[in-house]
Amino acid sequence: MQTLKDKLRNPVFRTVSDIVTAQGRQAFVIGGFVRDLLLGRPSKDIDIVVVGSGIELAREVAAKMGGTHLSVFKNFGTAMLRVRDVEVEFVGARRESYSHNSRKPIVEDGTLEEDQNRRDFTINALALSLNRDSFGELIDPFGGVADLQARLIRTPLDPALTFSDDPLRMLRAIRFATQLDFVIEDRTLAGIEAVRDRIGIISMERVCDETNKMMMAARPSMGFKLLDKTGLLPIIFPEIAALKGVERVNGRGHKDNFYHTLEVLDAVAAASDDLWLRWAALLHDVGKPRTKKYVEKQGWTFHNHNFVGEKMVQGIFKRLKLPLNEKMKFVQKMVGLHMRPIVLSEDTVTDSAVRRLLFEAGDDIDALMTLCEADITSKNEEKVQRFLRNFRIVRRKLREIEEKDHIRNFQPPITGEMIMETFGIPPSREVGELKAQIKDAILDGVIHNDYDEAYAFMMQRAAAMGLEPKTTSDHADQ
Ligand code: CTP
Repeated sequence: MQTLKDKLRNPVFRTVSDIVTAQGRQAFVIGGFVRDLLLGRPSKDIDIVVVGSGIELAREVAAKMGGTHLSVFKNFGTAMLRVRDVEVEFVGARRESYSHNSRKPIVEDGTLEEDQNRRDFTINALALSLNRDSFGELIDPFGGVADLQARLIRTPLDPALTFSDDPLRMLRAIRFATQLDFVIEDRTLAGIEAVRDRIGIISMERVCDETNKMMMAARPSMGFKLLDKTGLLPIIFPEIAALKGVERVNGRGHKDNFYHTLEVLDAVAAASDDLWLRWAALLHDVGKPRTKKYVEKQGWTFHNHNFVGEKMVQGIFKRLKLPLNEKMKFVQKMVGLHMRPIVLSEDTVTDSAVRRLLFEAGDDIDALMTLCEADITSKNEEKVQRFLRNFRIVRRKLREIEEKDHIRNFQPPITGEMIMETFGIPPSREVGELKAQIKDAILDGVIHNDYDEAYAFMMQRAAAMGLEPKTTSDHADQ
């Protein structure tokens, strides 16, 4: 059987071992690297703790190994050594205490045990010795290995202390549980609930980093359910928290849009690795609470929730410090269009409706269809099958029409400039109207997406509007 010792393959481990053993010092590999090694997950960065100065050890290792790149962070007392594509961080073992209003710890030198004490979770406090006589030996003072086997997230010390020392850890607990499909131990979960308001001192960038990692898990719903359970959800994502609950009038309720959203999110996650399509899934119904209305006879309605939702996306992205670029535009577009294929598939699927959808979705049509298929969460199997059947028809028509008409990146063959030039008119309402009529004629299949047909159509419509083409002599006069 392969032992842990054999798994410490990076040459940096042997080099550290030689140096510290010769000097009678102690060094350990610690944290995420050890956790992932035991879980058999691919590990990236390596953290090495030394009793004494981390910077000094890093300098000695760099000198001995060659071909590495060293960066020293004097203020933090740490050094980073790049060995090929792996980043190895060196730090002296420390004791930390935190002040109430900041994540910035007061740091003092300490022992390995003190260093392990201050870490976030038992599974992240595991260390492997790098000293020659105990090379690869596991130091596990809090039962981290047992927790890995039991798939538990648990703090080494009193949860209230661990979390108020660094409130980001509340989100890390939820993120690790979601990523690894682990359970947060009851006391630890209660600890989060107790100090949840302290999340307020964490910057939105960090909240978002953790959220994005959670979003990329196989089942992101787990994370949102935990955020809800611990009371963090309304603090960091009030718009998502507002989706929760079922209202009843005359005994009629609507579906709980929080749980529906999570089902859609998981279904999108199963179909796509695109972080932004996952965000679109999370936000697709975010306009529902603001548009909810009970209408006699009809029941619950959410008119225009897609457009209201689309308008809310920018505010949410701004607050969460998410990028306000084409990624956001993509999410807005998905939220805005997410009802279209459903409405389309409820009707007879006409070529004209398919062309319009293709025109508006452009290259994002496949992503939109993935979102819409995920959006069918009805418990009524017959209904689900009917929708999926219709979606197959929509997808087939999309393919056929795209092959025929190339609408995806459609640019009308007649531009505004051409219209102004042909009729010798300045920018005006007429120009816009003609342009729109040509576009509609193509999308409705009246004419093909072709210059000659569009030109003939333009002449005909212009005549009806009383516009006459500019003569050559008009041209000469100018
Ligand atoms: N750590 C901690 N508290 C934090 C952040 C980190 O105690 N708020 C400790 C943990 O022991 C963790 C180690 O520092 O294992 C390294 O942190 P980091 O690189 O952020 O996380 P990893 O555990 O390596 O996991 P990931 O890379 O998935 O974030």
